[in-house]
Amino acid sequence: MEYGYPKGHVFYRKLARNYPLVTHGDGIYLYDETGKRYIDGSGGALVTNIGHGHKEILQRMTEQMGLAGYVHGTQFTTKSLEAYAEALGEILPEGLGKIYFLSGGSESIEAAIKLARQYCLESGQSQRWRVVARWHSYHGNTLGALSLTGRIGMRRPYLPLLIDFPHFPPPYCYRCPFNLVHPGCELECAKALENVIQMEGPETISGVILEPIIGATVGAVVPPDGYLPLIKEICRRYGILLIDDEVMTGMGRTGTWFAVEHWDVVPDVMVLGKGMSGGLFPLAAMVARNDIVETLKERRGGFVHGHTFSHHPVACAVGLSVMEYIKKNNLVERSRERGIYLMKRLGELKAFPFVGDVRGKGLMTAIEFVRDQDSKEPFPRAAKFTEKIIDLAFENGLVLYPGTGFVDGVNGDMAMVGPPFIIEEQQIDEIIDILKKTFSQITKK
Ligand SMILES: Cc1ncc(COP(=O)(O)O)c(C=O)c1O
Repeated sequence: MEYGYPKGHVFYRKLARNYPLVTHGDGIYLYDETGKRYIDGSGGALVTNIGHGHKEILQRMTEQMGLAGYVHGTQFTTKSLEAYAEALGEILPEGLGKIYFLSGGSESIEAAIKLARQYCLESGQSQRWRVVARWHSYHGNTLGALSLTGRIGMRRPYLPLLIDFPHFPPPYCYRCPFNLVHPGCELECAKALENVIQMEGPETISGVILEPIIGATVGAVVPPDGYLPLIKEICRRYGILLIDDEVMTGMGRTGTWFAVEHWDVVPDVMVLGKGMSGGLFPLAAMVARNDIVETLKERRGGFVHGHTFSHHPVACAVGLSVMEYIKKNNLVERSRERGIYLMKRLGELKAFPFVGDVRGKGLMTAIEFVRDQDSKEPFPRAAKFTEKIIDLAFENGLVLYPGTGFVDGVNGDMAMVGPPFIIEEQQIDEIIDILKKTFSQITKK
């Protein structure tokens, strides 16, 4: 049977494709109703951190459902909520100790924007409300989060609805926005933040938000050393909160629990999502510095915010079980080690003339495609190069995560590879074999 628009009643994410129906998953593999096997090579959108088919997590989840499947976050707490918060508290950076559980990344970004605003208000800085974000970023699709998101194609249809948040250029060394080369650049891209703050008026800025390693918009772009510490220092100098969006990078994806740890930077607010539950339940969180929450308590009695599904007991039971599984199996270390192997093997793909860059950290990696390796000229968007690669890889049994339009708002092609942390070396070899096969087929076409 075929699934896809216009058949049936589902409002599909993509209206121009047919969907295979997945019947089940096991480890890093997914199976459709015809029995075809797919490697979940990007873990959806870098979500399924522990892979598929975990019976013990199912058991923990249903146990909690049987005990107390739902309570309202203003009325009760639960054992699963308390236990998960304790466990997360142990791994969070020093000083970040208060966790507000939510059900999606965008929702948690909204909470972070509001927390920054309310904190400024309560600490006598009522003019501060704007959050500075970066171009080439992704922070979500709800209107507040989209106002921060620096992804032109997603913003354009909704521009009249967006909030006026300033943006500054990303640390995208492969195509440096300042045409400089690190370390000679002296981190011009970080200094650009100070420039934007000054031009916009520091007294109007509540926070600066960034993905420590850029995710789905450009694909696993790791900033040069020194970049994040300098951003933190600029924020400190102007009394601005640093909001660390770890929705994609957090919970072990890059080989440390949180990506900021690679540079010993401690943010003021952190946002988590995706891998928290390994995708097994809608779960995300906004984490705040203890004293920020204390200020809210002292001045207004609390955070003026709330959602029906926040602090969800079943979500927390799943989150805790996933985290325990990660700890028990040393999966953060595994993500680091397998990531080194994956990067090494992805490097071989540079032999294909359209592979411009291979980059990433841990099991968050990406391949950027170019028309010309030397000039880095992108393919024209009309060529739909990424779509062709993604579709062909899919046919060959490998799921990748696409990204387009990041070079100039229209052109730019990349695919992300971000498999579950449980992946074995020989399964990475399988991914590379399929990529090589796919790239050879594209070359022939
Ligand atoms: C860095 C980052 N922030 C925020 C979001 C938004 O999360 P969600 O899709 O759960 O709303 C995403 C999702 O891809 C993301 O990668």
